Amino acid sequence: MPSALENSVYGLLSTPVLHTAVEHGVFTSLIEDGPATAPRLAERLDVDQDTLERMLLVLTSLGVVERAAGGEYSLTSDAVPFLDRRNSRYLGGFIKHLTLETRGRLDRLDTYLSEGKPATEASPFDDVYRDAESLRDFMRAMWDLSFGVSQELAALAGMAGTKHLVDVGGATGPFAVAALLTDPALRATVFDMPAVGPLVGEDAEARPVADRLGFVGGDFFADELPQGDCLAFGYILSDWDDDTCVTLLQKAYRACRAPGRVLIMDRLFEDDRTGPLATAAMNLVMHIEMAGKHRTAAEFIALLERAGFGDCEVRRASGEKHVVIGHKRQS
Ligand SMILES: C[S@@+](CC[C@H](N)C(=O)[O-])C[C@H]1O[C@@H](n2cnc3c(N)ncnc32)[C@H](O)[C@@H]1O
Repeated sequence: MPSALENSVYGLLSTPVLHTAVEHGVFTSLIEDGPATAPRLAERLDVDQDTLERMLLVLTSLGVVERAAGGEYSLTSDAVPFLDRRNSRYLGGFIKHLTLETRGRLDRLDTYLSEGKPATEASPFDDVYRDAESLRDFMRAMWDLSFGVSQELAALAGMAGTKHLVDVGGATGPFAVAALLTDPALRATVFDMPAVGPLVGEDAEARPVADRLGFVGGDFFADELPQGDCLAFGYILSDWDDDTCVTLLQKAYRACRAPGRVLIMDRLFEDDRTGPLATAAMNLVMHIEMAGKHRTAAEFIALLERAGFGDCEVRRASGEKHVVIGHKRQS
């Protein structure tokens, strides 16, 4: 079987195995307590050895862990930053979201394919906000997905000279906190649903910048946005259709002091939409979980121009989240 097809067929197992290993501390133990054989690791974690060994064999085949001649398992060096809970690139929360939330909604694919996606007035975020635990898990997933890449994004955007960042739908502040850490003169306001407020500043990384980090609770459809000279949309516009994005960007234009700018930070499709895989996969997730889609850089620029922004630029990062900038030159 070609390896691309093999990965597609057996990919069904990959995410749940990763998630179960994360939840039972397999990676944490291999990183923090050191390499171990399957029996030794089973003893450390107090789990069933046979099940653990079968999971480790899958993870070895996937290239997430490797086994030394003596039978000791360890993480491959490429995987360590993403599975070490102390690392800013840790993906445990995002893997949990994919496994516990996205996987349960994948059945919709069949109906959507046969009958089309039903029209609904409900917000896709109603599910996220259904109870305190779901909200906390979603915010954890957003932090894990965004904080690690945000220092690079803030450097790419160039925050020096910016006075007041407004992070629209900023969750618990992964981008705002990273930007504040890179620029001591900056102030930032996270604008998000009121229920998010009590969780902002809880992450250890936010503590050193707490005096410059504010929160305004509101609904970006019903309310105007707080004013600033830089308004950021991280993984926001991919949740919504084009007309809704233009409405949000027009609000940002009104809230933006000139000279100022808006930052769209999102996945980008290649111009011919042949990849990357993460963007194509999450484009499908946006369809079944949200009301949006992923776009090319040119499509984002067209939205920015419809809202009044000009001199648009694209700055590509080393990872999956990039920056598209639109400027507001005069009031
Ligand atoms: C996909 S998350 C993005 C979080 C963060 N900006 C990032 O880059 O990781 C979308 C965010 O939009 C917020 N949101 C959704 N609907 C909103 C609304 N009507 N008003 C304000 N915030 C909203 C959610 O609470 C959530 O924090």
